[in-house]
Amino acid sequence: MHLVADRLEKKFGAITAVADVSFTAVPGQVLGLLGPNGAGKSTTISMLAGLTKPDSGCVTIDGVTLGTGADPTKRHLGLVTQEIALLEELPARMNLEFFGGLYGLRGRPLASRIASVLELTSLADRAGDPPSQFSGGMRRRLNIACALLHEPQILLLDEPTVGVDPQSRNAIFDTIEVLAGEGRALVYTTHYMEEVERLCDRIVIIDHGKVLADDSLAGLLASTAVSNKLTLKYDLPPDGVALTEIAQLAGVTQIDLAGTELSVSAADLGTAAPRVLERLAARGFSCQELTSRRANLEDVFLSLTGRTLRDT
Ligand SMILES: Nc1ncnc2c1ncn2[C@@H]1O[C@H](COP(=O)(O)OP(=O)(O)OP(=O)(O)O)[C@@H](O)[C@H]1O
Ligand SMILES: [Mg+2]
Repeated sequence: MHLVADRLEKKFGAITAVADVSFTAVPGQVLGLLGPNGAGKSTTISMLAGLTKPDSGCVTIDGVTLGTGADPTKRHLGLVTQEIALLEELPARMNLEFFGGLYGLRGRPLASRIASVLELTSLADRAGDPPSQFSGGMRRRLNIACALLHEPQILLLDEPTVGVDPQSRNAIFDTIEVLAGEGRALVYTTHYMEEVERLCDRIVIIDHGKVLADDSLAGLLASTAVSNKLTLKYDLPPDGVALTEIAQLAGVTQIDLAGTELSVSAADLGTAAPRVLERLAARGFSCQELTSRRANLEDVFLSLTGRTLRDT
């Protein structure tokens, strides 16, 4: 099923949480909603889930507008909220029975769904223990399991890996990949670039409640003016003449010198790097160390917002 956010807007008093957000989540794909703290991710998710009514714009599921009341269209949605909501002192299995009951599941079908979500989230051996005895990662996995009981075609996950150990994080990624492989549409919010790079087929970058970019990782890298980088350390800082020559080489887009470290940006490192090295060697500068790195989402974010996601 397709989930469409169409020009969503939401204010809280004088604060505009979401100013203009539109995107489409499609079956079989993970859409990453990436933005810093306060960007409007959770408010967007809450509108997508039909919990918060937009001031303007609407959410549609396969063309049907989602209401905020007891709308049957909501059955297609599963929501994993940023704040974990569990019955802390009841065994995991009873948590699942409780949440399944809210979706009208009972008896054998419920038991079979519980077995299946416990398996999917790798919690089958801990079903008898209460979440109060779980690690952060296990609690998060149980929270996800609860949202999957009614087999939603669309799953909304709000920062599901915050406070989660690496093992649980990988288990969560595996679960997400299985769900996408089954043809479900997923919306995944995070402020971790690496997660988006690894998991998401499509990336929507939001900041101050507005969509700044909406594309695949490859598309974002191609459309923003970000470059691959070569970093060279020399015994002596290259002089002005050498630097001018490097800056003028074909394919070199930018150079920066910090002490004896020269960084060179280029669209194609394979062709630019040998030219840079040759030119500096010809000028008598001896390279001590050389590293290169491809442009990444961090560079895209910096180019779009003028700051890094980590400082926000
Ligand atoms: N119920 C509310 N009442 C008042 N302001 C709110 C409310 N909910 C959100 N806001 C404000 O709206 C803005 C967006 O908040 P939101 O929670 O959607 O951001 P977020 O991207 O999810 O951030 P985080 O990464 O910290 O979870 C913030 O400035 C926040 O303070
Ligand atoms: Mg949030």
